[in-house]
Amino acid sequence: MARMLEVNNIFCSYDHVPVLHGISLHVEEGEIVAILGANGAGKSTTMRTIAGLMHPESGSVSFCGEDISKKPAFEIIKHGISYVPEGRRLFSKLTVRENLELGAFSVTDKNVVAQRIEEMYELFPILKDRSGQTAETMSGGEQQMCAIARGLMSRPKLILLDELSLGLQPSLVERVLETVGEIRKRGVTVLLVEQMVQEALEIADRGYVIQTGRVVHEGTAEELLNSDEVRKAYMGM
Ligand SMILES: Nc1ncnc2c1ncn2[C@@H]1O[C@H](COP(=O)(O)OP(=O)(O)OP(=O)(O)O)[C@@H](O)[C@H]1O
Ligand SMILES: [Mg+2]
Repeated sequence: MARMLEVNNIFCSYDHVPVLHGISLHVEEGEIVAILGANGAGKSTTMRTIAGLMHPESGSVSFCGEDISKKPAFEIIKHGISYVPEGRRLFSKLTVRENLELGAFSVTDKNVVAQRIEEMYELFPILKDRSGQTAETMSGGEQQMCAIARGLMSRPKLILLDELSLGLQPSLVERVLETVGEIRKRGVTVLLVEQMVQEALEIADRGYVIQTGRVVHEGTAEELLNSDEVRKAYMGM
């Protein structure tokens, strides 16, 4: 069986400034995989490239055996990859429910959309209580859950979660990261980006550490958690 996601030696630039210098990684169906690294390492660029928001200059991205490197973002969503970008990016003046509806924009059957929203309320009960509230009036943690739920509304096979912990107080980080396990239980494979290295490795199966556009460490979560180099550089130990 083909790997779910295979990123093979991708090089990417912004305005001719190279940022990714040959990133390779893979994700198997059912896994939770973490991309770790400091600010500016190229984590979001890797995610944006997988999601089709930018295209690699060389190298390839394949999903379930098909090369998707040159496909536009809207087609990649249809293939079953959903991207929850850094910083939540909800429609702040729209309600929770309206934000969720937009996550299923390609579904025309209103009953199907309503059914999926109910599933999201089951997964995140707080969103049900807040369903008529505008996104901007919710707490950071609630907004993050709404962003994840919106990403799940297209029923992805693989969800890309970019820095769920950003701007959240420590007690909320754990709660939001716990939902990642719930997502997997529902049959969705997860690739996530985190700066909270320890917390991310506690929920992930495997991880990749990126530094200035290159993978510098990779291994099982346990291997990375026990690596002196990783602990020193990213966990302040
Ligand atoms: N739109 C852009 N235009 C030009 N340069 C960019 C753009 N986005 C990112 N970069 C640069 O590309 C490099 C990698 O950025 P990227 O956003 O992928 O890093 P990151 O690992 O996600 O960092 P962070 O942890 O801060 O989110 C950085 O040097 C950044 O300044
Ligand atoms: Mg980023």
